[in-house]
Amino acid sequence: MLFKAFRRNEERDLDLANMPNHIGVIMDGNGRWAKKRGLPRSAGHKAGAESLKKIVTEANNLGVKYITVYAFSTENWKRPKAEVDYLMDLLMDYLINAEKTLAGENVRIRAIGSRKELSEEMQRQIKKTEELTKDRSGIVMNIALNYGGREELLHSAKMLCEAVKNGEKSPEEITEKDIEEGLYTAGQPDVDLLIRTSGEQRLSNFMLWQVSYAEMVFVNKLWPDFKPKDLIECIRVYQGRGRRFGGI
Ligand code: FPP
Repeated sequence: MLFKAFRRNEERDLDLANMPNHIGVIMDGNGRWAKKRGLPRSAGHKAGAESLKKIVTEANNLGVKYITVYAFSTENWKRPKAEVDYLMDLLMDYLINAEKTLAGENVRIRAIGSRKELSEEMQRQIKKTEELTKDRSGIVMNIALNYGGREELLHSAKMLCEAVKNGEKSPEEITEKDIEEGLYTAGQPDVDLLIRTSGEQRLSNFMLWQVSYAEMVFVNKLWPDFKPKDLIECIRVYQGRGRRFGGI
């Protein structure tokens, strides 16, 4: 696997020593993709799910360690019920089939976000898929599902308040690390590269804490049109940037 990644990287002129550890993806533009073709929005989401499989496979082959994809935000409940139901069905299928479809890729699947608003069936399936894939050695794929960056920070803050209330911590002792430990991505590195497709240039409440020093790359393609070669191009752009983390 390592040899394969090495050979592919060489071909594509990427710097293996400077790969992003963690990529965040805002998969935007499914609806517009479908509209352009006179198709229902659901067709755009279906095509988006296919695109996602190829991108995760490519990221894994390139040696990226973590990928977080924005599948359903805390605000997406505002969409028409039929669209919400379709997205939930798609996600359910993805989780159920993940074992088979991504087995060869060795992907570890996790869901991040607030679970209690999801159906019990979905909550059960998330646990099952996480359990089934947890010992794999490949890329960690976080599916942001009923996820909101502010909700995540609120969740972390509430945990810390509890710890203070129980006398386990005093407010003066609280550090950034404590906040991080209450995030859904606890134990994972910050996002290095954030990609948003469709030409929009917003964060839309995605990983507000974890993208603090991420390089952002906005791509003028709709998500279902985003191909593995576009991922490579985004990594190339990332590698061309000078990251200073506040230094000089
Ligand atoms: C944004 O496009 C996309 C979403 C809200 C959903 C993303 C979901 C998928 C890519 C497929 C399902 C994911 C998994 C993990 C199976 P939009 O609908 O806002 O597009 P628009 O801005 O063109 O209307």
